[in-house]
Amino acid sequence: MNFHVMTLFPEMITNAMGESITGRAIKAGTITVDAVNIRDYAQNKHNRVDDYPYGGGAGMVMQAEPVYRCYEDILHNKIKKPGTRVIYLSPQGKVFHQDMAKELAKEEDLIFLCGHYEGIDERVLEKIVTDYVSIGDYVLTGGELPALVMMDTISRLVPGVLNNETSAETESFSDSLLEYPQYTRPAVWQGEEVPPVLLSGHHKNLEKWYRTQSVIRTAKRRPDLLEHAVLTEEEWELVHRVQQEEAAEDCADSEKKES
Ligand code: ADE
Repeated sequence: MNFHVMTLFPEMITNAMGESITGRAIKAGTITVDAVNIRDYAQNKHNRVDDYPYGGGAGMVMQAEPVYRCYEDILHNKIKKPGTRVIYLSPQGKVFHQDMAKELAKEEDLIFLCGHYEGIDERVLEKIVTDYVSIGDYVLTGGELPALVMMDTISRLVPGVLNNETSAETESFSDSLLEYPQYTRPAVWQGEEVPPVLLSGHHKNLEKWYRTQSVIRTAKRRPDLLEHAVLTEEEWELVHRVQQEEAAEDCADSEKKES
């Protein structure tokens, strides 16, 4: 997977991606990260890439030409083949989720366009952008953090990036369920014991426990995910029991507050 990032802050990208698992993947050549400074494509004395918005209003707008020149350079001199997806990070985009990451992980190259100030001239967006993506309903100062969130998520789905191939599949959101809780040594910490089944070495019981814990956790923390989950009848009964318990606890809490 080759990531190409159009940005005014290339070091934000290279520094963050150079750490931890993504850093290792870069060293191994499993992923590449090319952070390209849009300012290098300005054609004026002071390398300015922004200007006042037509019609007035607060803030500055990034100009179309340096963004377009930057894109053309990446496409024609680095990727050298047409059809590469260009992702513009914006709170107005489709909200990023694990399925989108899975789909994007199949691409060989991805271009991310990070905006700053009050945005980018609409004409260049219309010309080059294929996907508008938001990472959630809140407004950040620029597109770099969202691009990093996306690249980190996509990277760990690229074969060879995680040393344990199965771990990308068995965690939160696979099957629309959250991951079960994890424990490590010591077996007793501050008087709290690890669930005994984890020490039993009984494979079948372990699998059953993992699955049950995933269902309970999802019912408690993210019941909205269950809409797409495929559960057995017994598991649905468990969901209803958990939800009844949660409702009873909420009720007791609000009675406590009122008294
Ligand atoms: N730029 C500013 N806020 C953003 C968000 N929530 N998602 C993607 N890009 C953004």
